[in-house]
Amino acid sequence: MLQCNMTQFSYGIDALGVAVPSAYVPLEDLALARGVPPLKYTEGLGTSLMAVAGPDEDTVTLAARAAADAFERGGVSAADIGLCIVGTETAVDHSKPVSSFVQGLLGLPANCRIFETKHACYGGTAGLMTALDWLASGSARGKKALVICSDIARYGLGSPGEPTQGAGSVALVIGEAPRLVAIDMATVGTHSNHVYDFWRPLESKDAFVDGHYSVTCYLDAFRGAHAEHRRLAGTDRPDRPSALLYHVPYGKMAHKAHRLWCELEGLDAVESFERLVAPGLVIPSRIGNVYTGSLYLALASLLACSPESLDGRDVSFFSYGSGSCAERFRGRVTPGAQRGFASLLARLDDRRKLTVAEYEAMFRSRDEPRLASMSEASASGRARFLGVDAGKRVYG
Ligand code: CAA
Repeated sequence: MLQCNMTQFSYGIDALGVAVPSAYVPLEDLALARGVPPLKYTEGLGTSLMAVAGPDEDTVTLAARAAADAFERGGVSAADIGLCIVGTETAVDHSKPVSSFVQGLLGLPANCRIFETKHACYGGTAGLMTALDWLASGSARGKKALVICSDIARYGLGSPGEPTQGAGSVALVIGEAPRLVAIDMATVGTHSNHVYDFWRPLESKDAFVDGHYSVTCYLDAFRGAHAEHRRLAGTDRPDRPSALLYHVPYGKMAHKAHRLWCELEGLDAVESFERLVAPGLVIPSRIGNVYTGSLYLALASLLACSPESLDGRDVSFFSYGSGSCAERFRGRVTPGAQRGFASLLARLDDRRKLTVAEYEAMFRSRDEPRLASMSEASASGRARFLGVDAGKRVYG
């Protein structure tokens, strides 16, 4: 039976910011170009638009923009941050972490611990759990943590994984008495297993995936993490959150996971999906897979799109990283948390629609190092990737 302790709902997400690339390609157009029925992508996979990163956007610039958005929304300043972790599986250097570039771009203090975490799409959750432990241990000494999940998903032109690409970043400010969602650290159910479902060898820019096997691995991991979460929460208590958020490589995957949850809990999946899961899929369906940030993009979507007040309600989280490591945990929504999130949806309308030919050209151009002129850089109001100079990445 669960013991009430200090780690239940004391710490959590205090502010959340999102950054997405400035362009997208409709999956209907991509389907037609690939000779596939459009319904396969829009209904079969459950994604309508795929975000495409431009040549001046990378994992670093998206991370810096998401963090700036979180700071602005939450009234947080760089000086408040004592720990900055970037979870990513599309890092820009084998040694220098994305968090180091972010420190420079955001002006994080020198007495801030900065590093990068990796475990496929679980890397962001690894950062979140580390930040929560840092706070609970007393090491924070009044500071907050900044956890950024940032990625550009690439499988390759014409590959089966292509329609499940996407790009984006979600930044979470983690603190005590959080203003968005408090996490129950006492019931985090973990499940890990050495499987080869998705990987990216050091020399490859595109991910390798055993697609259908990865779906099986995801569901096996859900079963394991769910059982562990239920054991820690007390199996005599019904598992009845007011919303369920799943890692969303594409919407249909969340559908499959929810069907499994309903089967395990003896509930009707059709009835509960629209109510408990659909609000969390609205924004992901217009961006695609953002890897580490995917679960937290679903949270942003829930806060933006839930037709009901979530004040004081419990929300279930399921994080999956191929390879694999998965976690199921629960959070409690702080009253007032939904305020201001509807604007995220409107922001998605402010993007440039690409033709498939333009998207393909942008995809290929990322293989070529470029260095824009400094005058081009100074004309821009936000962090941009300018290119590589003598092996060093340059931002402006
Ligand atoms: N109209 C409507 N639906 C259609 C259709 C049509 N004309 N044609 C096909 N469909 C449906 C299919 O029935 C299927 O739905 P179900 O799964 O419910 O049966 C769906 O569309 C997809 O069809 P296929 O399985 O035939 O598609 P595929 O073989 O081309 O590949 C995929 C699908 C395996 C997901 C592939 O896109 C892929 O490899 N993606 C990358 C890997 C991935 O995202 N894995 C998810 C789990 S791992 C993870 O979560 C970590 C991560 O982020 C990568």
